[in-house]
Amino acid sequence: MFNNLTPPPPDAILKVMQQFRDDPRSDKVDLGVGVYRDATGVTPVMRAVKAAEAHLVATQDSKGYVAMAGDTAFHSAMAALVLGGVVGAERIAAAAATGGTGAVRQAMELIHTANPQARVWISQPTWPNHPALAEAAGLEWRPYRYYDAENGGIDRAGMMADLDGAREGDVILLHGCCHNPTGADFTESDWADIAAFLERRGLIPFVDIAYQGFGDGVDADAAGLRHLAARLPRLMIAGSAAKNFGLYRERAGIYMVVCPPAERDTTQAMMAWLNRSSTGFPPDHGARVVTTILNDPMMKDQWLQELAEMRARVNGLRAALATALRKETGSDRFGFLGAQKGMFSLLGGTDAQIARLREEFGLYLVGGGRMNIAGLKEDTVDRVAAGIARVLND
Ligand code: LMR
Repeated sequence: MFNNLTPPPPDAILKVMQQFRDDPRSDKVDLGVGVYRDATGVTPVMRAVKAAEAHLVATQDSKGYVAMAGDTAFHSAMAALVLGGVVGAERIAAAAATGGTGAVRQAMELIHTANPQARVWISQPTWPNHPALAEAAGLEWRPYRYYDAENGGIDRAGMMADLDGAREGDVILLHGCCHNPTGADFTESDWADIAAFLERRGLIPFVDIAYQGFGDGVDADAAGLRHLAARLPRLMIAGSAAKNFGLYRERAGIYMVVCPPAERDTTQAMMAWLNRSSTGFPPDHGARVVTTILNDPMMKDQWLQELAEMRARVNGLRAALATALRKETGSDRFGFLGAQKGMFSLLGGTDAQIARLREEFGLYLVGGGRMNIAGLKEDTVDRVAAGIARVLND
């Protein structure tokens, strides 16, 4: 049986992770996988997380199973964080998942269970795993134009022209904030236009919000999603605590459905069942850490402050890189970097150019030129800018 297997396609991000690990040079710079790093290059355990974990060690008296959909206290805490109270609990179904990736996968399974004919529309470019997760759930997906590489913003006309091909009941996958890989986000008026379009056409939004808090703040970053939730009858959400709580390996994610109250209980039951038929019970530790922090005013304040520090650091590095590139190129060619949001920006570049950055300069970017800004350090900005200017500024 196993001799029938063919090797799976390489994952663009994991490939860069491996290449970086295999590189013996001490001055190599990892601008690949989307993890936050501090000024010493470390992905730290947040102090609020340490406090919550210490509390759990002291007080937790069982590791028994929780529930197929995870802990309802986690659902409530995450619903409040993401939705900010714009819809009542009677409209929210939720289930914990194995990280943001598991949340997207389970949401895709739910779409397939509810309507196998639904097509999922995915931005081009997007996080490389999105199409794979749709396919794994047996769903057909279609691309829509999103990025305007000329000005580093959104190709609104191209996007609307492509989405015009969606049929009633199709699902439109949107990035809630800090678009991965471009860093180009919708404005408030874009969200209003999108909501009106989805409403008119009977389309269902599915918002992946993996980077809440890395753009302008936890509430500002969820404003577009909340607008959709308040205005439309149905919305799907995949949330993650990997980045904003620094809980990457704990796999703390959640998927939620906002729907009419009459649809809520069956949706909730189906989400629990879908968990049962994949992971059985979702992981609990990271989810419990998040719940502990969000329900304790002092820990929550501490967490918000640390998140604000991380956001400020990434924004500072963005600005520093934009300035260094302006100096290196004598132009505003990379000026868009300063205006974009979150960990990522897309610098462009052919496969050969990305390979040259890696081989000659020790700079590791994902194919297409996705750069993790949080992988920079104050003392690598100038060297990275020089390499980029030499290789990409033609
Ligand atoms: C990324 O985009 O680099 C992260 O979301 C990590 C991942 O799972 O791909």
